[in-house]
Amino acid sequence: MGAKKVILDCDPGIDDAFAIMLAVRHLDVLGITTIGGNSPLENVTRNALKVLEVCGRANEIGVYPGHSCPMVTPLVTAPAVHGADGLGGACVPAPTHVAQDRHGVDFIVDTVMAIDDVTLIATGPLTNIAAAINRDPRIVERVREVCIMGGSATLGNWTPVAEFNIYVDPEAAQRVFQSGMHVKMCGLNLTRQCGFVPETVERFRAIGTQAADFAARITDFSIKAGVARNQPARAYMHDACAVAWEIDPTLIAAAPMRVDVELAGTYTRGMTVCDYRHLCGARPVVDIERTGQMEPQGAEPNAEVALDLDYDRFLDLVCATLADCR
Ligand code: BDR
Ligand code: CA
Repeated sequence: MGAKKVILDCDPGIDDAFAIMLAVRHLDVLGITTIGGNSPLENVTRNALKVLEVCGRANEIGVYPGHSCPMVTPLVTAPAVHGADGLGGACVPAPTHVAQDRHGVDFIVDTVMAIDDVTLIATGPLTNIAAAINRDPRIVERVREVCIMGGSATLGNWTPVAEFNIYVDPEAAQRVFQSGMHVKMCGLNLTRQCGFVPETVERFRAIGTQAADFAARITDFSIKAGVARNQPARAYMHDACAVAWEIDPTLIAAAPMRVDVELAGTYTRGMTVCDYRHLCGARPVVDIERTGQMEPQGAEPNAEVALDLDYDRFLDLVCATLADCR
């Protein structure tokens, strides 16, 4: 069986860079679409091209710029997390390739309609995916699934309850969750299990490839940027987890839940409201609340929600990828 066919929709972004490096090595990446998020569209598109160059794949994989801003609200970016350029000023050479002259949403729709069983992996705000569904709802039945880094079954990061990607475009996120596509949600409750530490940077440096050196530099930036914001010395590679889930589904344990996105709350806009009441006590490994058995209740699940990461195997996968990527 050949590698899984995917389109990666992203906003690189330090952790998106890891997502790209994993995806191009282990999956059949049909194209990369970009979305304004961590940094404005122009930056994230250039960054996607740079990362492909680091992996030696820029001449094979097209980058298609998508939407520059969310469906309803103005764009929010994250320079304190990813640097002004979106890649922590990683100082890789300017890309030698340019982006494709075709809109990312057109690329998603046309590719999904032409090729069976495409998986969408989305590691930025969900604007492009929602726009593609609106453009041609037949893609809902055509895609294999959409694997999202976004949301949280527990705490948020941008607000106490909202994760950044969902917070930036909650209307788009709700469109995707309610679309009927098979949704896999790799949220913060999972990705917080994958914090790279200074020793991880050393491990990357010891690998000795261009990709590993790049990975070491952006991880180091991310750790220091977190410390500057009074956070622990950890770089969370959220987006890499979503791609790893597609590469090796055994790395992540998940459970079905109904997930809806709060659009109206004064304090809760962008929250992913995950109904896991039916799980409490039934399977202790996924019983987030450790409450014991509750009466079964709740709406029909519409998403598989990631709960538990095999971190050691995940890190081994990242290191093996960086060693292979030249
Ligand atoms: C998500 O937000 C972005 O800053 C990261 O790239 C990741 O996709 C984590 O909340
Ligand atoms: Ca991202």
